[in-house]
Amino acid sequence: MIKLENVTKKYLTGNTALSNITLTINRGDFVFLVGPSGSGKTTFFRLLTRQTIPTSGYISIGDWDLVKLPNKKIPNLRKNIGVVFQDLKLLRDRTIYENIMFPLEVGNFSPKDAAKRVQEVLEQVGIVEHKDKFPLQLSGGELQRAAIARALAFSPEIILADEPTGNLDNATSWEIVKLLQDINSKGTTIIMATHDTNIVDNLLKRVITLEKGKLVKDEVRHAKHK
Ligand SMILES: Nc1ncnc2c1ncn2[C@@H]1O[C@H](COP(=O)(O)OP(=O)(O)O)[C@@H](O)[C@H]1O
Ligand SMILES: [Mg+2]
Repeated sequence: MIKLENVTKKYLTGNTALSNITLTINRGDFVFLVGPSGSGKTTFFRLLTRQTIPTSGYISIGDWDLVKLPNKKIPNLRKNIGVVFQDLKLLRDRTIYENIMFPLEVGNFSPKDAAKRVQEVLEQVGIVEHKDKFPLQLSGGELQRAAIARALAFSPEIILADEPTGNLDNATSWEIVKLLQDINSKGTTIIMATHDTNIVDNLLKRVITLEKGKLVKDEVRHAKHK
């Protein structure tokens, strides 16, 4: 379970990116995090991966207290939380295969186990045939799949997807959302930041809405009566 209590994040510039957020997200949930640009979505994700710490408040994931977590435990935390970054962060001078292999090697997988795992996640996201291409040779949807594959590499319990459909057409967006739902159906908690009202209005999931760093709405969508 992910738990935030009265979490505020002020950046050194004086910007309050998140203000007094209290919420919990249960294991296995699929949650949308919505709100206009600048509302604090990416900051929320950065707090969950300990890329930054809150100015005040408490955050935990399972038994981990993220405020007190010693630096040496951060790699373990990050193996348990796969991130699909808003800007993907795929290395341009490495193939898709190498991009997924790289964190596994750093994360102490043997070359043989890493190779096996890369193959598995490439199959899971459906881009095996593109594995030897470089990022610039892939379409937007294929790049998202590659970033999702890398996020899956350590079989995390949680995936944070930061606007994964932001640059995609409608049909491709739905394919990516279906892939995330498929991953969720196997037990992985998914938090997807998005502005895509078409997707949010159609999926009937929990929707957490941020505005200027404040939690303004937290509701489970139900089908509308016609
Ligand atoms: N590293 C940073 N330093 C200073 N301000 C930041 C930083 N990152 C984000 N912000 C500010 O925090 C607010 C929330 O940003 P962000 O979390 O990126 O929102 P979103 O992902 O919803 O667009 C914005 O006002 C943004 O300018
Ligand atoms: Mg963002």
